Amino acid sequence: MNKVTLPMLKGAKGKKKISMVTCYDFTFAKLVERSEMDTILVGDSLGNVIKGQPTTIGVETSEIAYHVKAVRKGAPSPFLVADMPFGSYQTSIEKGMENAVELMKAGAEAVKVEGGQEVAQLISRLVSFGIPVIGHVGLTPQYVNKFGGFGKRGKTKEERDFIKRSALIVEEAGADMIVLESVPDKLASEITQELKIPTIGIGAGKETDGQVLVIYDLLGMDKNFNPSFLKKYCNLDDIITKALKEYIKDIE
Ligand code: KIV
Repeated sequence: MNKVTLPMLKGAKGKKKISMVTCYDFTFAKLVERSEMDTILVGDSLGNVIKGQPTTIGVETSEIAYHVKAVRKGAPSPFLVADMPFGSYQTSIEKGMENAVELMKAGAEAVKVEGGQEVAQLISRLVSFGIPVIGHVGLTPQYVNKFGGFGKRGKTKEERDFIKRSALIVEEAGADMIVLESVPDKLASEITQELKIPTIGIGAGKETDGQVLVIYDLLGMDKNFNPSFLKKYCNLDDIITKALKEYIKDIE
């Protein structure tokens, strides 16, 4: 990790890559703490995996703050990033500032926003007030109603150019890191080489400066969720279902 990076991540403890996982509650946070993960993202993916909604659009800032507080208690060490959910920054810079302040007061050390040019001014303002920002380009789930789904981005040259331009704008605006989601490996690699800030990939190949996964996905909590990029490190769906069945049998 030779890139310009946040003081808390300096050298990512001497590792070559930055490890990031999403987390939403105290119990899992304690496990993440023990794993010595570099960073935690309290993602708006909680709309899907906690609230059972089909998109992240309905997530509120107060919900992210609630989960940030729980996660911070269980995992005091990893660098903690809070997602700015849909509606928390789209209507005005002032609203974005207020919501980011709420998340920092809850225990976050940085906030994450989706987009490029449209969030550049907000990023600059946040950074000028000492709020580190993580960008997010490529597949940006808060734009699902524009793109009509969660498919891979960057299939055309025009789209690839747009994603690269967006990443450069986000860096120029002052972001400290950037998530590249569901983009071609080659594009992620090119962006990683061009940017001075670290890139964190999900479904973006191996050449990014770090990786992020949703914790329930990597633990195999849902055997029906199998996107091509996902490596499951265990199969908790089966293990937990079996344990619950055994428990019921014992009760009977
Ligand atoms: O909300 C989330 O979990 C995310 C990651 C998938 C990057 O944004």
